[in-house]
Amino acid sequence: MTNKQILKEYLSKLKYKSLSPFLDIEILLSQALNKPKEYLYEYPEKKLSAKQLSIFKKLFSRRLRGEPIAYILGYKEFYDLKFKVNKNVLIPRPETEILVDEVITSVKAPSSKLQVPSVVDIGTGSGAIIISLAKNLKGNFYATDISAKALAIARQNARLNKVTVKFFKGNLLEPISSKLLGSAEAGQAPSSKPIIVANLPYLTSKELQNSTLKYEPKIALNGGQNGLEYFYELFDQIKKFEIKPLAIFLEIGWNQAGKIKQMAKKVLPNYKIKVIKDLSGFDRVIKILK
Ligand SMILES: C[S@@+](CC[C@H](N)C(=O)[O-])C[C@H]1O[C@@H](n2cnc3c(N)ncnc32)[C@H](O)[C@@H]1O
Repeated sequence: MTNKQILKEYLSKLKYKSLSPFLDIEILLSQALNKPKEYLYEYPEKKLSAKQLSIFKKLFSRRLRGEPIAYILGYKEFYDLKFKVNKNVLIPRPETEILVDEVITSVKAPSSKLQVPSVVDIGTGSGAIIISLAKNLKGNFYATDISAKALAIARQNARLNKVTVKFFKGNLLEPISSKLLGSAEAGQAPSSKPIIVANLPYLTSKELQNSTLKYEPKIALNGGQNGLEYFYELFDQIKKFEIKPLAIFLEIGWNQAGKIKQMAKKVLPNYKIKVIKDLSGFDRVIKILK
């Protein structure tokens, strides 16, 4: 079969199984041939070798079963950087770039009080958020996750992107709380006034039933019955450990801003709160600032 024939024939097979069938086939065929996408159009009549065809068919059958392209390729681009991903980490979403943007803009604003920050990313997964911040800001960078397998990927991604981030395994702020309170050995302590960023699991049990999510780790998505379990726990920990963050930036679900504002006001009464919307007009990020 030629490049042109594959693009045509396999499109009809994937048509009702993917929202972007043509793009998917282009990507998978390029991957099987180990060539850029342009090659498919420069050489439409080029025949695939038996080995190339067999590689393509294997990749294609994974996509046909619903596996996300990022897991099939083993990487995902986020904030103009490349991140290794596998089934142990959430695939970084474009919406999360809004959170990263908001942190960078806030820190770099001329009137900002957030310069040279210590930044702590809670539930780091692939490390996409903290690594993008480390790439774009000066400061000290820390991250936690409950999953050792996710942290292994995050560490690899920090190396791949050539940034220094200290990773800790544990429940939300717990593994880093003593360091935030300044009791760690010299050189380790970030600050008792960090910037906290997080994209916590915030889907409700019902939303989690969406079949497009079946390949991603439940621990990365499941926010309990109303999706808010982790936010309650995070604010409880901020209170318990007496952390006075300079700012908190949280990615949130479209209908969660009200409840999270209430939690924040209780624990950090003198802070200002701003909600930022995504391109579809839904609440997406909450910013809590001193
Ligand atoms: C929604 S994912 C976000 C991943 C990544 N930050 C991103 O934005 O792509 C949530 C992450 O929180 C982690 N997580 C779940 N429960 C946790 C806990 N109790 N403490 C720390 N991390 C937790 C999961 O393993 C997962 O990596």
